[in-house]
Formats: sequence, structure tokens, C-alpha cells
Amino acid sequence: MKITLPGSGPILCFGGPYSNLQASEAMRAEAQRLDIPPDRVICTGDIVAYCANPNETVDLIRAWGCHVIKGNCEEQLAQRAGDCGCGFGEGTACDLLSNSWYAFADQTLRDDLRAWMEELPATLTFDLAGRRARVIHGGVRENSRFIFASTPAAEKASELDEAAADFVISGHCGIPFVQHVGKRIWFNPGVIGMPANDGTADGWYGLIEGTPDYGGLRFSVRRLGYDAIGAAAALGLSGHANGYAEALLSGLWPSLDVLPAKERAATGQRIAAEAFLLA
Ligand SMILES: [Fe+2]
Repeated sequence: MKITLPGSGPILCFGGPYSNLQASEAMRAEAQRLDIPPDRVICTGDIVAYCANPNETVDLIRAWGCHVIKGNCEEQLAQRAGDCGCGFGEGTACDLLSNSWYAFADQTLRDDLRAWMEELPATLTFDLAGRRARVIHGGVRENSRFIFASTPAAEKASELDEAAADFVISGHCGIPFVQHVGKRIWFNPGVIGMPANDGTADGWYGLIEGTPDYGGLRFSVRRLGYDAIGAAAALGLSGHANGYAEALLSGLWPSLDVLPAKERAATGQRIAAEAFLLA
């Protein structure tokens, strides 16, 4: 689906609210603080996942009115599928953890919100400063594909070819990064609803801003501080997925199953926001 982004100024991108109401409230407040209107805000999907407030989080995102694409979580919940669609091996830590949070989300989510999810676009395209942008969740061909900073550039180039885009805005993998792929850009602004496994409780979001440098666009990722204690307490009270309640505070994921070796080795190492600035 092609969209136009009216006005000027930064575009705010974020992913993975993950049923984390406190983080979602903080994200909306941050957009307001930065004076970025909802029609220049893009969510890369997975509104509902690990945390305590599926309905309230979707209600907030809908009321906010930002652009949203369908993550694997929206796909699966809308279809009443039995799992999150990540294809975790049976009995792995991710499999056992997802059985818990997915069942809670599936039992809790209202039917009107499932219907809304079903109608979300799978992808968005728009033009910005003469560049073609494509918003995806995981991969272009596969919604639940994990594409990390360490994923080979050739694979990202192939995805960008498929996307017919000068830059991709992606989500799903949970760790923010910005990379040149030749003359193109892969931009994953990260997720707000779970920490980035860097030993801090913060979530992440991204900005795309006009600049005289790099063909007129600058991509950056930023920390989102929020009430992680409140989110962890709510998750603890909900009685499910408590490995994630701990993760909200420690900043360390309860399972590293999905991480490639490089990202796994970086567990607990604080991510430097300035490292992602491209000029
Ligand atoms: Fe996802």
C-alpha cells in the first residue's frame, strides 16, 4: 500500500509495542514532545506479544492514529493461529516462552481488535526526498524472517532488490541498527516493548530526518526510557511469561535462541545510540 506523508520534519519509526502499555504511552508522549504528528509516525508491527496489556496497547495505537503494518503477531492472532509464527523448534526456550505469552494474548485479545489487525497492510511504500521507501516487518518475502545487523549484506541487498526500495524500514528482530547496503540503507529502529538485550531496560525508536548529508536523509536510533518497573509489575501480576518480566528490568532476553553469534556475543553490552548516526 502506497502512502503519502504530509508536511515536513522528522518521521518517527518504531516497532514491537509487544502489549507493553507503559512503553507505548511513553512512545506517544515522545512523539508529542518532538511535535511529530501521527501521520508521520510508522509502526512496524507486533503490537501484541510478551507483555501484560494486549487490548489496552492496541487501543492506544489505534487512538493515536499512526501508520501500522501487520507483524507476524497480528497475522497469527487475526487468523487465530496456534502460535506466534516464528517457527521456533519444539521444546526450545523460545518455544516454551512463546507458548505462555501467546496463549495469554490469544485468550485476552478482543474480537474487534483481531478484525482491525486483519485489515492492516502487510507493507507500506512512500517516497521521501526522491527516495523510495518500503516498510516491512521481518523480511520482504517472509514476514517472520529475522534480519539482524550481522545478516550478510548480500542477503540484505537481495531483500532491497525485492522491495524495489532505496531504503527499508524493518522490525521483528528486536535489536536496532542502521546500515549502508551499497548505496541503499537498511534501517531497523528497534522495538519499544522489550529491551534490546544490552543490559539496559530502555526500548528503541528511530528518526528519519532531512539533512544536506547523505543524499538528504539521516537515519538515527534513540533510546526510549519509560516506566519499565510498572510494565514488569503488570506482567508479573498477569501470571504469564515471567521470564520476560525479569527481562524488562534486567535488559537481558530470557532466551538467545534467535540471535546469530555476533548479536549473542554482544549480550549485556550497552548499545551506543551515537554509533547508529549516519551522515
Ligand atoms: Fe515479529
